[in-house]
Amino acid sequence: MDKKRLVVMASGRGTNLKALIDADKEQYFKGKIICVISDNKDAKALQIAREHDIEAVVVSPDDFEGKRDFNQFLIKELQKREADFILLAGYMRIIPKTMIQSFKYRILNIHPSLLPAFRGLDAQRQAIEYGVKVSGCTVHFVDAGVDTGPIILQSAVSISEEDNEETLSKKILAEEHKTYREAVKLLLDEKLDIIGRKVKILD
Ligand code: GRF
Repeated sequence: MDKKRLVVMASGRGTNLKALIDADKEQYFKGKIICVISDNKDAKALQIAREHDIEAVVVSPDDFEGKRDFNQFLIKELQKREADFILLAGYMRIIPKTMIQSFKYRILNIHPSLLPAFRGLDAQRQAIEYGVKVSGCTVHFVDAGVDTGPIILQSAVSISEEDNEETLSKKILAEEHKTYREAVKLLLDEKLDIIGRKVKILD
């Protein structure tokens, strides 16, 4: 089986990365995680990668003169590894336009809300403060906006009176781990047809 080369980019604790590694090990999708890139040398995600014999690379803006050099280096690292797809899993930086152009419709992100509601940071807190009764997670293609790209899959959770940011985050995270692997499977099975800003899931 010809497996696609996946690079995961993460800045933090890496639970979505771990869920994707598990899916890879189970051969749930036709892809292989070849590398994890982080902008944060202390990210737990890097440790998780190493524990699973996956190359762990730090590309931090602190090591570059300016944004341009950082962005160029990042793209080179991805190209050097012949990445087919890039999976953002808690990567806390805006993806540069040049990278979006180089990897058009080949970058996915997971966001902890039902987009287009609660884009940006602290989506779970935004949902609690707004008082919505339902929230969830969204896997989408990355475009030039923040959390605006074509939506692949969403999964909803209900919010009760007792929920707070922490309990809601936990509920959503459990859905994230299931939804991300499903979206990657659809992508690698070539079941996604992008029409404008809509993603049609083929049978
Ligand atoms: C997740 O909630 C994801 O939706 C968001 O960042 C968080 C990353 O968590 N983009 P983890 O590092 O995968 O545990």
